[in-house]
Amino acid sequence: MKLLKTVSELQFVLVEKQKNNCTIGFVPTMGALHSGHLALVRQAVAENDISVVSIFVNPTQFNNKNDLLHYPRTLETDCRMLQDVGAAIVFAPSVEEIYPEPDTREFDFGTLATVMEGKFRPGHFNGVAQVVSRLFDIVKPNKAYFGEKDFQQLAIVRAMVKQLNLPVEIISHPTVRESDGLAMSSRNTRLSPELRKKAVAISRILFESQKKKNTLSVSALKQEIIDQIDAVSGLQTEYFELVDGDSLQPIKDWNDSDFIVGCVAVFAGEVRLIDNVTY
Ligand code: PAJ
Repeated sequence: MKLLKTVSELQFVLVEKQKNNCTIGFVPTMGALHSGHLALVRQAVAENDISVVSIFVNPTQFNNKNDLLHYPRTLETDCRMLQDVGAAIVFAPSVEEIYPEPDTREFDFGTLATVMEGKFRPGHFNGVAQVVSRLFDIVKPNKAYFGEKDFQQLAIVRAMVKQLNLPVEIISHPTVRESDGLAMSSRNTRLSPELRKKAVAISRILFESQKKKNTLSVSALKQEIIDQIDAVSGLQTEYFELVDGDSLQPIKDWNDSDFIVGCVAVFAGEVRLIDNVTY
């Protein structure tokens, strides 16, 4: 496995591979890797001739300076894990390498970006689109892999690929969970042992709520989930929405969509966690 830090080094290696008609699988990450990321990488390794994993904590997608400052950085351990699952190239560039000039592009994702994460983290998805489009331009992957844990991000990336007409296939991977159900996240390492135990309530409440479809109205179920999460001391719901899984617009009635997803953001102390389930 090669660890490369500059665009020119990476492109030098990739151009050779492309000449030989190798297919390139790409997994963009911000590092602090866990089994969720590795599941994406395993799939990329299995489905492509060569797999590239980027590790880049993208400043333009953080609307909270504190979150950016505290984002865990564990490059050495990440590389060991990536070697074990068969990644060919790790691309870990500096900020200057990705943004030699400030990226001033403004994307328009319409109502996809004005709800949920887009509403509570203004500018976040513009930053995601900036970095993902830049990385796609550098890596030129045939397939790129994204986790369903970041459900709205997946929709935004698909919309971006369509808007920019990029020749890349976006592949989604189901959310990988800890054995108690908590969705794996790099941010979980920032939870105190006490809050880590409490955070399991988020997925438990979401899974229990799946059984209540049709027995409660949409608005009653929404309120019940928020109340149940907030009843756990240390947890505070930022939003819970039941949305159509394609448009991401909130539904009012269970008959409004045949692909309904419940998306939640919860503060566990200072740490912001997201999760989602399908109904
Ligand atoms: P990051 O949070 O590091 O996640 C990288 C990829 O791993 C994303 O596609 C994310 O959805 C996926 N992932 C994270 N946790 C997962 C889990 N528990 N199960 C399955 N997949 C999971 O998302 C980002 O980085 C950034 O926004 C990025 C796309 C790299 C752009 O900077």
